[in-house]
Amino acid sequence: MRTEVAIVGAGPAGMLLAHLLARAGIDTVVVETRSQEYVASRTRAGILEQSSVDVLTAAGLGDRLRAEGHEHRGVYLQWPGERHHLDFVDLIGRSVWVYGQTEVQKDLVQAHRGPVLYEVRDAALHDVATAHPHITFTDRDGRAQRLDATVIAGCDGSFGPSRSAVPTSARQVYERTYPYSWLGILADVPPSTDELIYAWHPDGFALHSMRSPEVSRLYLQVPNGTDPADWPDERIWSELANRLGHGQHDWTLTPGPITEKSVLPMRSFVQTPMRHGNLFLAGDAAHIVPPTGAKGLNLAIADVSRLANALTAQLRDNNPRLADRYSDEALTRVWRCTHFSWWMTTMLHTATDPFEAQLQLSQLRWVTSSTAGATGLAENYAGLPL
Ligand code: PHB
Repeated sequence: MRTEVAIVGAGPAGMLLAHLLARAGIDTVVVETRSQEYVASRTRAGILEQSSVDVLTAAGLGDRLRAEGHEHRGVYLQWPGERHHLDFVDLIGRSVWVYGQTEVQKDLVQAHRGPVLYEVRDAALHDVATAHPHITFTDRDGRAQRLDATVIAGCDGSFGPSRSAVPTSARQVYERTYPYSWLGILADVPPSTDELIYAWHPDGFALHSMRSPEVSRLYLQVPNGTDPADWPDERIWSELANRLGHGQHDWTLTPGPITEKSVLPMRSFVQTPMRHGNLFLAGDAAHIVPPTGAKGLNLAIADVSRLANALTAQLRDNNPRLADRYSDEALTRVWRCTHFSWWMTTMLHTATDPFEAQLQLSQLRWVTSSTAGATGLAENYAGLPL
């Protein structure tokens, strides 16, 4: 097989790239180790920055988003006894949208007409620094295949083969682990809030998010290695009520049937550069952020939008300028979001050190009382223009 751009990974990064390139008349083949059903059903974050909405809309993917998504002006930040609303629209004139990654994925799968090979095994990238990069794999019928391409796009997340196809001598890795995880639930109950609540609490961080007017998504900070089996539904709701301030300021948390429960580890990771010869990395294949701030999908969309422009210029107009600048320019945004996600995470997750706890509270008071502090948070949360 031969194509112009071989894309590894059929998640939102790979499918959006395939879709954008198809609109520019560029051929792609997408290969994916998982099944289509698996990729479609993974629960991920649900907040889209303004610029992500703009990219999806320009790509013809904005109709259901606008009909079924919900625009939010801002978020609540709270700690015991206090809840503050940050209004992004007032502060910076930008908003965010609640629309699940699973919905973005459905829209992409429905829109894209090109070949996507699911359930491939043993995918390996070869000769990526040469003019003849290719991928070998076993297809789902058990046949050995070779896919030759002009360019390979690694959109295969942190467990895929693309990231490590860059030789160790040519890559640099930056990493941070955190001493806590999130226990996340989906519940069939209308959200108890109009906008997301980020709560600092001495017993641990909590977040009230949502997917729709009928479905809530909530998280609790838990120690690493937590077994969800140790968290029966009643324990989860009572801890959420405690940390989110049920009963204070006339606010109540309404519990409901939990339909999904899982523990999410947290990590910051960046691999540089994001290009090696004819291999370009995008999304989680190049970087991971902890979920506080909901940047993961948004960063992937920003990478892919930039990469689609760069590959279109290179393959259609023989102009390599944007492709040559891809890694440096993408990494500028990646590091801004890496810092923001780290900052939100370390400001909101309960520290064991009392000195750090006082610094966190001071920081929270500052971002909720100073226009300068609030504007900085708003600008990062709602996302800088592309
Ligand atoms: C989510 O809805 O899953 C979500 C929202 C905001 C975050 C993280 C996750 O910061």
